[in-house]
Amino acid sequence: MKFQATSAVPTNRIENAAAPADTVPLATTDRDYAFYRDALAEIPLPAAYVDLDLLDANFATFLRQNQGKQIRVASKSIRCAAMLRYLLAKHACIQGLMCFSGREALYLAQQGFDDLLIAYPLVDQTLIGALADQVDRGTRIVLMVDSAAHIDCIDQALQGRSTRLPLCLDLDMSTPLPGLHFGVLRSPLNAVDKALALWARIKQSDRVSLTGLMGYEAQIAGVQDKIPGRLLQNQLVRILKKWSGPQVVKRRARVVEALTQAGATLSLVNGGGTGSVRQTTSEACVTEVTVGSGFYGSHLFDYYHHFDLFPAAGFALQVVRIPKPGVYTCAGGGYIASGSPGPEKLPLPYLPHDAALSPLEAAGEVQTPVHYRGSLALGDPVFFRHSKAGELCERFTHLHWIRNGRIIQKVTTYRGDQQCYF
Ligand SMILES: Cc1ncc(COP(=O)(O)O)c(C=O)c1O
Repeated sequence: MKFQATSAVPTNRIENAAAPADTVPLATTDRDYAFYRDALAEIPLPAAYVDLDLLDANFATFLRQNQGKQIRVASKSIRCAAMLRYLLAKHACIQGLMCFSGREALYLAQQGFDDLLIAYPLVDQTLIGALADQVDRGTRIVLMVDSAAHIDCIDQALQGRSTRLPLCLDLDMSTPLPGLHFGVLRSPLNAVDKALALWARIKQSDRVSLTGLMGYEAQIAGVQDKIPGRLLQNQLVRILKKWSGPQVVKRRARVVEALTQAGATLSLVNGGGTGSVRQTTSEACVTEVTVGSGFYGSHLFDYYHHFDLFPAAGFALQVVRIPKPGVYTCAGGGYIASGSPGPEKLPLPYLPHDAALSPLEAAGEVQTPVHYRGSLALGDPVFFRHSKAGELCERFTHLHWIRNGRIIQKVTTYRGDQQCYF
C-alpha cells in the first residue's frame, strides 16, 4: 500500500528544464506504468504531470510541419504561465500568444508576456480601457473584431484617449452544407465585401488600426478522422475536409488580397490549429499558425490520419477502494472537456494498459471506478489522459514536469495562480 508523501520538488523554478527544440528524445517508447509510477512516487495524489521529453517530441513534430512559418501558442489549451514561457523560449518560430480572454491578456502582460492576440471579441468597455492602458505601457495587444458593432464598442471605450488599438478581423472559415454547418458558429464575416466594409470602418477612426486577419478552420483542425471502429464516419469526415480545404484557402487568399489592394497592411495572417498545421502553413498568405492542445497531446488528437502525437500530459489518481475483484475506484477524475457532449470528452485511463472506465459511471465527480484485470492495491496510482487540453489546468493547481523519468519542476497552473477566466 502506498500513502501520500509530501513533495520536496521545487515550485515554479524552471531553469534547466529546456532541451533543444528540434531534438526528438530517445526514450519516447518506454512509457509504461512503472515509468510514471516511479516518477511520481513521492507526490501526493491526485497530481497532474507533463512529460517534457514527449512534449519536446510533439514540438518537433510541429517544427516539421510548419514549413518555416511562425507558430502562435494557444494559451487556452496550455493554461500555465511557466509552460507558456517554456514553449516561447524553445524556438525562434514561436511567435506570441493567442489569448482567450481580455483579463487573461492583462494578467499575462503583467507577467511580462508580449505579443498577445486576443482571439475572441471583447465588448466590456472597462476591460478594453484597461487593455489600452497596458498597450500604453508598451505591450503589443491585438483585439479581435468581426463586425462594425465591435469596432464601435472599442472606439467608444477609447474616447478621450490617444491610444490606438490594433485590430484583427476574424474571418469565418466554415463551409455550410444543406443540413450541416461544417465549421464553427462564430464570425459573420465570411466574404470579401464584408471585410472591405470593416476596413473602411476602421479607417474612419484614429483610435484603431487594422493589423491582422485570423481565420480558424475548426472543421479541419479540430475534427478527428481516424476514430477506431468508425470507418464510415472517418471516410465522410475526410471527404468533407477535402472538399472544405480548397474553399478555406480561396476565401483567406481573396480576403487578404482585397484588403491589401485596398491599402491595408496585414502584419499577421493567422490560421489553423493543432490538426491543420501543415495544411494551413502551405497557404502563401498565412504568416502564422496556432497550436495549443498538440503540445500536451491530449487524447482527442490521437485520431487524425495525417499525424501522431505523444501523450505528453496526464494525471494520476489514487486507488482508494476496491468494490469487487477487477474494479479499482480512484479518488477524483471527472475532468470533462468542453464542446458537444460525448464519450470522447471524458478523460481516459492510460496506464496500466487495458484499464478502462466503467460504462455506467465513467469519470465521476469525486470517484472514478476503473476496470482492470491486473492487480492494483489501495494507494496505487492509475494514470489518465485528458481529452482536449484546457480542462487539465482548470482542475489542478500544479503541473509536475518530468524529464528523463524524474520530476524536475513543480509549476503552478492558472488555477494555482488563482487565475480563473472561463
Ligand atoms: C481561434 C482559434 N485558433 C486556434 C485554435 C486551435 O487550438 P488548439 O491547437 O489548442 O486545438 C482554436 C481552438 O479552439 C481557436 O479557437
